[in-house]
Amino acid sequence: MKDEAAMTQRLYRSLKQLPGIRALIQTPWWKVRRHRLTLALSPRRNCHFTCFLRLPTQFEALSGPVLDFLTQNASAKPLDIAVIGCSTGAEAYSIASVLRQRHPDLVFTVRAYDIDRECIEKARNGRYTPEEVFRTDLSGSTTVTANFVGVTFDIEDGCYVVKRDVRNHVRFGLADALDPNLKERIGSADIVYAQHVLIHLAAHNAKRAFRNICLLLNPRAVLFVAGMDLHILQEQTRKHGLIPSGYKLEEIYRELNAYSDGWPWNYSALEPFMTVRKEWHRRYSTIFFKA
Ligand SMILES: C[S@@+](CC[C@H](N)C(=O)[O-])C[C@H]1O[C@@H](n2cnc3c(N)ncnc32)[C@H](O)[C@@H]1O
Repeated sequence: MKDEAAMTQRLYRSLKQLPGIRALIQTPWWKVRRHRLTLALSPRRNCHFTCFLRLPTQFEALSGPVLDFLTQNASAKPLDIAVIGCSTGAEAYSIASVLRQRHPDLVFTVRAYDIDRECIEKARNGRYTPEEVFRTDLSGSTTVTANFVGVTFDIEDGCYVVKRDVRNHVRFGLADALDPNLKERIGSADIVYAQHVLIHLAAHNAKRAFRNICLLLNPRAVLFVAGMDLHILQEQTRKHGLIPSGYKLEEIYRELNAYSDGWPWNYSALEPFMTVRKEWHRRYSTIFFKA
């Protein structure tokens, strides 16, 4: 088996020396196909990586057009937000902090879930190291601003502790996106986040989880779903009748791509933004409306 792999690699290296092949493998056409192969062949691995305020423009959408959509023609009722695959809590606390700051009168709850007990314990604890708060993208920049830090944390003995006012909006619990009784267990929500979770699941599980996640959406609701195989995202959002948001699509995608490296070899890496792709609005959107 080892000999076969070594032979394949040798063959591939020799092929790459041929001028025609060398030119071909630099083209987007080939890279798109190579990434489909990567997606099909790569074993998926669970990952707990998370950041505070990872996609600032997506947060802008949350506090702007997304809230407008949900509050249109509706009597003011408390907003219910579910986060599936919350890891150690950075995303859930970021949502609560942004909404509190930009909409001080909004009544809302963030319920955040993960399958990992240790992550949930750490999230409930709400204490973070400076490295966890100021995580950087691949260029070495952080999206966390002094203003965000000021409204989100108290600093105690060098530790960043989530402020009580932010924490009061957030609950954490164990739940599995693959659980066929997910909806019965955790109920529905106005906004559901399922970000950077489905990309780490094999295709058949990603589709099962996506179906369960869609069942959580209230009749008028919004799904945030960055970090998923793009062809599955396209197929599943179309199948479930979800409408892509066009709000600063390219900007959000660029922020997402700042954490991704190794396309077309790495399964979680993102392709370049290509408006020649069919249905590119759906393919590159990370926010979907259910109306
Ligand atoms: C890469 S983290 C993403 C954290 C956060 N959503 C973000 O975007 O920063 C993915 C998390 O999803 C969790 N996860 C994986 N499979 C899951 C499942 N079937 N149900 C719920 N959570 C899951 C993992 O344990 C991990 O903590």
